[in-house]
Amino acid sequence: MKLFHTVLTTVCLASAISLYNVPVGAQPTIPYTEPWRPQFHFTPERNWMNDPNGMVFYEGEYHLFYQYNPFGDKWGHMSWGHAVSPDLVHWKHLPLALAEENGVMIFSGSAVVDWNNTSGFGRDGKPPMIAIYTGHYTGKPLQNQQIAYSNDRGRTWTKFAGNPVLDIGEKDFRDPKVFWREPTKRWVMVVSWPVHRKVRFYSSPNLKNWTHLSDFGPGGSTSGIWECPDLFPVKIEGRRNAEKWALIVNVGSGAPAGGSGCQYFLGDFDGKQFTPVKSSKSPTGETLWADWGRDFYAAVSWSDIPKQDGRRLWLGWMSNWEYAQDVPTSPWRSAMTVARELTLRQTPGGLRLVQQPVKELRSLRGPVTRSSFKSLTQGASETVSASGDLLDINADIKASRDAVFTLKLRSGATESNDLRFDIQSRQMRLDRKNSGKVDFHPKFPGSYSAPVRLVDGRLKLRILADNSSLEIFANDGEAALTSLFIPNSASRLIELHVERGSIARADFEMWPLKSIWKQ
Ligand code: FRU
Repeated sequence: MKLFHTVLTTVCLASAISLYNVPVGAQPTIPYTEPWRPQFHFTPERNWMNDPNGMVFYEGEYHLFYQYNPFGDKWGHMSWGHAVSPDLVHWKHLPLALAEENGVMIFSGSAVVDWNNTSGFGRDGKPPMIAIYTGHYTGKPLQNQQIAYSNDRGRTWTKFAGNPVLDIGEKDFRDPKVFWREPTKRWVMVVSWPVHRKVRFYSSPNLKNWTHLSDFGPGGSTSGIWECPDLFPVKIEGRRNAEKWALIVNVGSGAPAGGSGCQYFLGDFDGKQFTPVKSSKSPTGETLWADWGRDFYAAVSWSDIPKQDGRRLWLGWMSNWEYAQDVPTSPWRSAMTVARELTLRQTPGGLRLVQQPVKELRSLRGPVTRSSFKSLTQGASETVSASGDLLDINADIKASRDAVFTLKLRSGATESNDLRFDIQSRQMRLDRKNSGKVDFHPKFPGSYSAPVRLVDGRLKLRILADNSSLEIFANDGEAALTSLFIPNSASRLIELHVERGSIARADFEMWPLKSIWKQ
């Protein structure tokens, strides 16, 4: 039986690998025109995808690896898919990077460039790329940390013969994120201990031998398991050389919109221990959320972004574990968000993580259309016709303090995504109950709210609309809300309805976006 299974797996793997063995730099082999196929978000050609993994920049390429099932459109046979981009916008599919093998699935993890060849895997004076991932054993209750290396810009990978490199004999122990810390000349790993609601920190001189440093948690949101952590310094806007460390902890359930979501802690990291900023509410800090929508999970950041660039960049998996396997797209399932730049901003509520789409995305914009409305009072309705389904929208709304108004996005004859603002209660709420197909899972329809405020009497919005997703950024990225929708028909209008109070002025700028999959 066991032998049969091994033979079957080997045969399947061999055929899957040859299926994916497209030449480097190849464009997709299918047209990417299926219903709901995202046009400016990353999706695999076919089959199941979840977390982004191993994001690293090396020799002019942004690498994106991802949790991938080469054999089907539901979770299983987890392996690392692979794509590269010159600009964080256009992606080229590459062959499967790390395949499930000998009863070990390749779970989430990170990748680094080992500039000083601490691992000894470098060749011909060139640094190796090292992937650090979780080995998930299918035949026994065990997860441990393993490494693989590449000497050809990530095109082929060799699993280290001495794996695992870190094993504490636990069933749930996963998603290592590794970075180099120059002052101590050591690698630091942050890895999750999901059921304990802890992350653990380890240190290594060579990526092969790891020493335990400390643990953080439980704290913040603890109702769901802790997965996919990250730890990095982020610049504080408007203050030269000021930064704080962000500890990212994705939670499997219990996020504000329900199900899986991305929480973070702000604090300091001294090379051994993470100390959260003190809060009157809790010794481990306040519970903070990176995104208020239903569809932002497993977000982790890129390694090795060059110093002269200096940005902290990340993206997330644009789905939710509650219904991800039932989203009715085919032959692929799941997309990533756009790449986003992270900063910290001092707000009246305290220091907050701020996210904005990377500036490179503007290269997809076609000619702008502008519309302005003035003196809208209770009961007023205005409509803006969009120039397509793929849109980048800026809105600048000067509203009264008691204003309540709704922006109906991707609105058609029978459906829309309703984004309602209540300025007094400092809230925006996205309702997708009537957004199209919602009955594929009872947990898909719903409405989700995020905090917003007026800054100098104005509310600024940036909205990215793709064929089946909305990413909404309020006040230059202070609140992000990411949400899928599955429209039944063309729905191209944006409507503005004033329910209470008044809008002195509303200015819209709208750009049609080009598809990244067409030349
Ligand atoms: C998060 C996660 C990770 C794990 C991976 C498996 O979505 O559960 O913790 O490594 O997915 O695919």
